[in-house]
Amino acid sequence: MGKLDGKVAVITGAASGMGRASAILFAKEGASVVVTDLNSQGGEMVVSEIAAAGGRAVFQRTDVTSEVDIKAAIDRAVKEYGRLDITFNNAGVAGAVGELENIEARDWDRTFAVLTRAPFFGIKHSIAPMRKSGGGSIISTASTAGIRGVAGLHAYSAAKAAVVNLTQSAAIALGHDRIRVNCICPGGVLTPLIYRGVPGGEEAAERNLARMQPIPRAGRPEDIAAMALFLASDDAQWITGAAMIVDGGVTTGNVRIRMEQLGTGGFSGPSFER
Ligand SMILES: NC(=O)c1ccc[n+]([C@@H]2O[C@H](COP(=O)([O-])OP(=O)(O)OC[C@H]3O[C@@H](n4cnc5c(N)ncnc54)[C@H](O)[C@@H]3O)[C@@H](O)[C@H]2O)c1
Repeated sequence: MGKLDGKVAVITGAASGMGRASAILFAKEGASVVVTDLNSQGGEMVVSEIAAAGGRAVFQRTDVTSEVDIKAAIDRAVKEYGRLDITFNNAGVAGAVGELENIEARDWDRTFAVLTRAPFFGIKHSIAPMRKSGGGSIISTASTAGIRGVAGLHAYSAAKAAVVNLTQSAAIALGHDRIRVNCICPGGVLTPLIYRGVPGGEEAAERNLARMQPIPRAGRPEDIAAMALFLASDDAQWITGAAMIVDGGVTTGNVRIRMEQLGTGGFSGPSFER
């Protein structure tokens, strides 16, 4: 028996990275999945992969900056599979990257359109069909950048922080309807979003990510898919409004401080006594 048997899910940004891994895992666990993305070719490939493994999925081209597109993706789930149980607002971009004084207002707004407005649309249009289903699970991909700032990712950090707080206010509003609203805060996960356009590409990014946190490897899309599955499933039926950190420990503290920088060890007394 799968953990999502009989459930119907819509996943945005499912042509690549975490969304792709989640679509494949959700289908493996018995869900029927509407795979959505701007990238039609990538999305169709995910659908074929799911079908080849015996799962159920359809592709719906969706630009998450469009409220009409998001509503259409949710309507497709109901039309195709008869109900909606899970919405995973996951599509993302790095957006406006760089020095604060060089960020254009237009790029700031485009970042928020993908990262913050889209989860709002996803939540808004899931409410009616989930009420009909007797409840549901809405998940959004926030980020550890939404909890702590990241230099050069000002718009991204602010947009993801908004997702964390929207998750909480929506959870309060929708608890009575048995609609749970949670988000995931990934740390550094090896996906095209991280390595596209970066010198050294995927391999260099993997080496850099491995040094960032106590667990010395880059995050994998499957690490996030596993959390998404948990939140989507009935195992998480008493969890709402949570920002689940999946980051190999990057938010625990400063991993760059080593023992030798702390002196000789033992008891360190008042600083005026040598
Ligand atoms: N990779 C990381 O280290 C990391 C860390 C924290 C959070 N995140 C977040 O995880 C989520 C998934 O990203 P990923 O790392 O898997 O990257 P990815 O680039 O592999 O996947 C993102 C997907 O979103 C799609 N997308 C982008 N803009 C879209 C739009 N307007 N409409 C529809 N689809 C669109 C892309 O085509 C792509 O398929 C994003 O929200 C991202 O911000 C990533």
